[in-house]
Amino acid sequence: MNKNEIPNDRNQAPIFEILKEIVTDGDKNIFEIGSGSAQHAVFMAPKLPGITWITSDLTENHKIIKARLEEAKIPNIRGPFQFEVGKDDFPRIPFDLVFTANTFHIMSWKNCKTLMKNLGNRLREGSQVIIYGPFNYNGKFTSESNASFDVWLKERNPESGIRAFEDVNNNMIKNGFTLYKDFEMPANNRTLVFTRLNFVK
Ligand SMILES: C[S@@+](CC[C@H](N)C(=O)[O-])C[C@H]1O[C@@H](n2cnc3c(N)ncnc32)[C@H](O)[C@@H]1O
Repeated sequence: MNKNEIPNDRNQAPIFEILKEIVTDGDKNIFEIGSGSAQHAVFMAPKLPGITWITSDLTENHKIIKARLEEAKIPNIRGPFQFEVGKDDFPRIPFDLVFTANTFHIMSWKNCKTLMKNLGNRLREGSQVIIYGPFNYNGKFTSESNASFDVWLKERNPESGIRAFEDVNNNMIKNGFTLYKDFEMPANNRTLVFTRLNFVK
């Protein structure tokens, strides 16, 4: 297992600092895509008591999420919902914000594009999408460790790989979003926050 795959507790607090800036009093639900072990839900939800954190992932990961949630007993977490980008529609539940961590380099680029398109169709004006993970800039890795992580990812699945910030940004723009901010994070990661613009497509 590559170190970038290990749930990175070092990034939890910095991600929360961003969520604090993004989540407003009017926001009621955050939909998380690819919750994995539910580590973000369990860390963030108690600190954001005004919102419900909705977990989702492929069914094969639900056992581990359920076990973690049963142990944590946090009232404002829902799910896990079955949601596989490229296969499932969004669950029929309301949500104001979308959070996803360490998924863009796992999913195929085709699925990343499907997700961005569907987010554009689903989210109302002003809703925000928070994407955490490693990204390349100007055709370059931002660190040696990200370069070797990319090799490791592609050996595991040739469709995985660290995405270019510019490709993600361009696709989000194409689907009706604007970049609110690109936050630098520890361990050569980024948090990209996009805002849904006026609904014209
Ligand atoms: C590296 S893990 C990240 C887990 C967690 N978000 C974290 O940051 O620790 C990638 C997650 O993406 C999920 N995933 C992979 N392909 C997906 C898809 N097509 N749709 C939704 N989730 C997907 C995996 O099941 C896994 O939980």
